[in-house]
Amino acid sequence: MTKFAAIASALIGATLLTGLVSPAFAQSGEINIYSFREQSLLQPLLDKFTAETGIHPNVLYAGDGLLERIKAEGELSPADVVVTVDIGNLVGAKDMGITQPITTPDLQRVPAQFRDVDGDWTALSLRARVFYVSKDRVTATKLTYADLAKPEWKGRLCTRPGEHAYNIGLIAQRIAATGLDATREWLTKVRDNLAMPPNGADREQVRNILDGTCDLAIANTYYMGVMLNNTAEPEQKQWAESARIIYPDADTDGTQVNVAGGFIAKYAPDVDNANTFIAFLLSDEAQEIYANTNYEFPVIPGVEPAPLVKSWGTLNPSKIPLAEIAAHRAEAAKLVDELKFNEGAQN
Ligand SMILES: [Fe+2]
Repeated sequence: MTKFAAIASALIGATLLTGLVSPAFAQSGEINIYSFREQSLLQPLLDKFTAETGIHPNVLYAGDGLLERIKAEGELSPADVVVTVDIGNLVGAKDMGITQPITTPDLQRVPAQFRDVDGDWTALSLRARVFYVSKDRVTATKLTYADLAKPEWKGRLCTRPGEHAYNIGLIAQRIAATGLDATREWLTKVRDNLAMPPNGADREQVRNILDGTCDLAIANTYYMGVMLNNTAEPEQKQWAESARIIYPDADTDGTQVNVAGGFIAKYAPDVDNANTFIAFLLSDEAQEIYANTNYEFPVIPGVEPAPLVKSWGTLNPSKIPLAEIAAHRAEAAKLVDELKFNEGAQN
């Protein structure tokens, strides 16, 4: 019997322990999952989860507005577990009062900086906000976030708009690490080093390296894997091949990470199945599938990233707790407005 079948069997008492029924029939329950993440990422996990526990998932794939929907559904919400991305959504869900503590002991496997102090959410995988530098025009092998403010990068930086959650996460991390005033000064200089007003998403910034518009793009790690393996849009392979990844602050304070994560809904109809599912997602086998399918980093120590991800270097994540970073998101958004970051260089 697998570990998750064991957990499932605990829910139906002694029946399973007699060995008279198989796990698949023993646990005939269902679980309702609301997912921000796409089906191609979740389905391999769901198949394994059902095979091990017999629990049948009903999944609602949706984008923006999911948290508001759960809030509006109130006590009648069918959601058991929500799978989402970005620390802003996880902390936001707790603030909205739509979470409840995860009680599976497996939660303790997650390093404390990557889960809520009350257990109301947990990271499920990590993504780092790194530098993609031109293979042809950049020789540096080590850089820091502070380096982005240096005059040598004048007219050479590209990033997506400042208010995007990925950049808000990075700026909030800088505030947590260096303070608001130092971050204002830093972000002003970064703005003035931009090659063009921020536009497009992370991958377009890497395309800008190929076409010579900029020499360093700020983007999330997994896009390298997504671009290199993009069969639908093979031109992205060339974008990716024009750049290499540098993990900022790798030797010092560590690289800023954000997360994909999950929580149990406050009015989850089946709290036991919800905890079983979270425990499954935190298992070594699920961590490997979940992180590797999208070229992310497992959140459980000791589980290896995909070989392609490992080829980019070793991630040394910043030690600042995610909740502390999240607490500076509003200040980060204000800075982006105040400095008119999206208008590009001003000096
Ligand atoms: Fe993304």
